[in-house]
Amino acid sequence: MELRYALLFLSLLAPSCAAHILEPYDFLFDTAVEAYYKGEWLTVILNMEKALRNKATVRSVKAQCRLSCANQTAFGDRPSGMDAPLPGAGSVEDLGFFQKILKRADCVNSCETDKLGTRTLHEVTEDVALEFKKRTPYNYLQVAYFKINMLDKAVAAAHTFFLANPDHMEMKQNLDYYRMMAGVQPEDFKDLEAKPHMAEFLQGKSYYSDDSFGLAANHFEVAVDEYFTADKECKAMCEGAYNYDGYNYMEYSADLFQTMTDHYMQVLNCKQHCAVELASTAGKDKPFEDFLPSHFNYLQFSYYNSEKYEQAIECTKTFLLFHPGDEVMNQNLAYYSAVLGEDKARDIAARQISTQGYKRGIQRKSILEKELLYFGYEAFGITFVDPVSEQVIPYRSLFAYLMADRETTARITEEIGNLMKEIETLVEEKKKDSSDMAMVIAPQEGGALLHDDIKVTMTANQLNGSQRVLLDGVISEDECRELHSLSNAAALKGDGYSGRPSPHSPSEMFQGVTVLKAVKLGQEGMVPLKSARLFFDLSEKVKKVVESYFRLDAPLYFSYSHLVCRSAIDEKQKDREDLSHPVHVDNCLLVSELNECIKEPPAYTHRDFSAILYLNNDFEGGEFIFTELDAKTVTAEVRPQCGRVIGFGAGQENPHGVRSVTKGQRCAVALWFTLDPAHEEKVRTISVDQHQHN
Ligand SMILES: *[C@@H]1O[C@H](CO)[C@@H](O)[C@H](O)[C@H]1NC(C)=O
Ligand SMILES: *[C@@H]1O[C@H](CO)[C@@H](O)[C@H](O)[C@H]1NC(C)=O
Repeated sequence: MELRYALLFLSLLAPSCAAHILEPYDFLFDTAVEAYYKGEWLTVILNMEKALRNKATVRSVKAQCRLSCANQTAFGDRPSGMDAPLPGAGSVEDLGFFQKILKRADCVNSCETDKLGTRTLHEVTEDVALEFKKRTPYNYLQVAYFKINMLDKAVAAAHTFFLANPDHMEMKQNLDYYRMMAGVQPEDFKDLEAKPHMAEFLQGKSYYSDDSFGLAANHFEVAVDEYFTADKECKAMCEGAYNYDGYNYMEYSADLFQTMTDHYMQVLNCKQHCAVELASTAGKDKPFEDFLPSHFNYLQFSYYNSEKYEQAIECTKTFLLFHPGDEVMNQNLAYYSAVLGEDKARDIAARQISTQGYKRGIQRKSILEKELLYFGYEAFGITFVDPVSEQVIPYRSLFAYLMADRETTARITEEIGNLMKEIETLVEEKKKDSSDMAMVIAPQEGGALLHDDIKVTMTANQLNGSQRVLLDGVISEDECRELHSLSNAAALKGDGYSGRPSPHSPSEMFQGVTVLKAVKLGQEGMVPLKSARLFFDLSEKVKKVVESYFRLDAPLYFSYSHLVCRSAIDEKQKDREDLSHPVHVDNCLLVSELNECIKEPPAYTHRDFSAILYLNNDFEGGEFIFTELDAKTVTAEVRPQCGRVIGFGAGQENPHGVRSVTKGQRCAVALWFTLDPAHEEKVRTISVDQHQHN
C-alpha cells in the first residue's frame, strides 16, 4: 500500500520535476572546465555533453513555445466577448489587438516557465555565449575523448571545433595526426553542430558530384523540408529581448508605440537575416549564394538524370519562380516538356502554388516584412541594411507576385498612409514646441564663470565659430582621477558593455556609464558612492557654468550625461583613417553631402547646448574638432586635458567629432542640455541624496 502511494506520488511529480531540473548550461560548462584541469575526463565529457544538449533544448523549447503560442493567439480577430461593434468605439479593435498581445505574452511565458523553469535560469553572460559560439566545448571534449580512447568521438569533436576556428594551428595538427592514426575513418570527421537542413544539403551535393542522382534528390528533398523548419525556428528565435546596442539604453524613453516599433523593427531585421544564417555553415566564410533556389536547381537535374521528368518539370518551374528569366532553366523546361509531352508538362505546377502553399507564404511574408522595414527606415530613420542579396532570396523578381496581389498592396499602402499622417502630425507638434522654445533663447557669450579657478582659454572667435567656448580649470586633478577610476570600476562591474568594441570605430574599445547607472552601482556597493556623487555634482557644476557663460535667461536641464572612455586597440592602429567619433551635430541629422542639417527625429532635437568635460591627456590622438557642415573642413581643433571643458550650442553651427585615439585611453564626461524641462534626464528627478550617508 505504501509502495503504491509512493509510486503514484512519483509518477505525478516526475514530469514537472524533470522539466525543472534542466541544469543551466553555463553551470555545466564551468563544471566541465574545472574537471578538465583536474584531469577528470569522464566528468568533463558528462558535463560538457550535457551543456551542449541543454543549450540546444533551451533554444528548441523557446522556438516551439513561440510557434505554438503564435498558433494559439493569432492576431486579427475581434476581442472575445465583443461580437457586435460598439457605436463610435473604434478603439475596441485596439483592445482586441492588445488583448492578443497580453495573451501571447502569457502563453509564451507560461510555456517557457513550465518547460525550463524561471526565465532567468538559462540566461548566460556574453562571455559564455561567445564560448559556445566559438565551439569551445568541443576543444575540451576532444582532449577528454582522446584521453579515454574514444577515438571516433575525439575526431568528430576536433573536426567540429576546427570548422569554426580554421586558424587554430594546434587543432589542425591534431587533425593531421588523427588522419594518420590506425582505426580512424574518413566518416569520423563529422560536424556535430551541423544544422539538419545544411547537413542534408551538403550530403545531397556530395552525392550529386558523384553522379548518384537518386540519392542526391532524396537528400535535397529532405533539405528543402528542413530548410523551412529551420527558417521558422530561426525567425521565432528573433522574438527575443530588445537589444539597446549597448550604449544608449539609459537614454531610451520612447512612448508605447515607438517602443513597440523599435523592438518590432529589430525583430524583423533579425528575421530577414535568417535567410543568410540558414545559407551559412561553419566551414565556409561566405553564405551559399542563391541558397534556397539552388536546391531546386540540383533537384531538377537529379530528377532528369533519374528519368523522373514530372518531378524535373515541377522543380524547373519552382526554380523559375525565383528567377523567371533564367535562360538555362527555360531551356531545360522546354527540353523536359518535349520529352514528356507538352500537354502533360503544362499541367504540372510549380511547387509552392500547388500543394505546399506555405512556401509561397514564406516568400510573400518576407516581402511584406521588408516593406515594413523600409517604411521604418524612412519614417523613423531605423537602420535597415538588407542582408538578403538578390542571390539568396531574389525578392525583386518575387515582387511581381506581390504586386499582382492588388488587394494586399492596396491595404498596405492605405495603412502606411494613415501611419504617415499620424507621424507627420506628431513631428509638426514637436516642431511647434521647439520653435516656442527658440524664442526664449537669446544666447550671448561672456557671462560670469561663477568660480575663480575657471578661466576662458578660447572664445567663440578664437575657436573660429559661434556659440563655442573653451574653459580650463573646471575640475581638479584629484577629481579627474576619481572620475577616471569610476569609469573603469563601473565597466568592470558589468555595466553590460564593458570592453565593447566602440560603436563608432572597430579600432577602439568603448565603455560608458551614465549618472543614473553610476548612482545605482554606488547604491549597490559596486563602485564608491562618493565617486558616483562626484559625477553628479561635477556635471551640475558644468551645467551652471555653461548656463552662466552663455547668459541664458531660461535654466538648462540635463538631457543626458555620460562618462565615456575610448581605448585604442594597439594591434588595430595600422593605416587607420577613421575618426573615434564621426562628425555629427547634436540636435539635427547632418547630411554632409548637402551641407544641411535636418532638425527632425530621430535626432535629439530638444538638445540646445552641449559640453564635454575632459579628464586626462595621457593618450595619443583623440583631438576634438569642429568642422563645417561638409563634415570635412576642420575649423578648430582642441586637445583634451584634465579640467578642460569645451562648451557649444547643440545646433547646426557646430558640427563636431573626435579624431582617432591611437594609443591609450581617453576619458571624458559628455553632457547634453535642454531648455525644455519635459526632456529632463530621469536621474535628476530622483534624489541621489537619500543614500549618501551609507
Ligand atoms: C497550428 O495549428 C494547426 C491547426 O490547429 C496545426 O495543424 C499545426 O500543427 C499547429 N502548428 C504548430 C506549430 O503548433
Ligand atoms: C582657427 O583658424 C585659424 C586659421 O585657419 C587656425 O590657424 C587656428 O588654429 C584655428 N583655431 C583653432 C582653435 O583651431
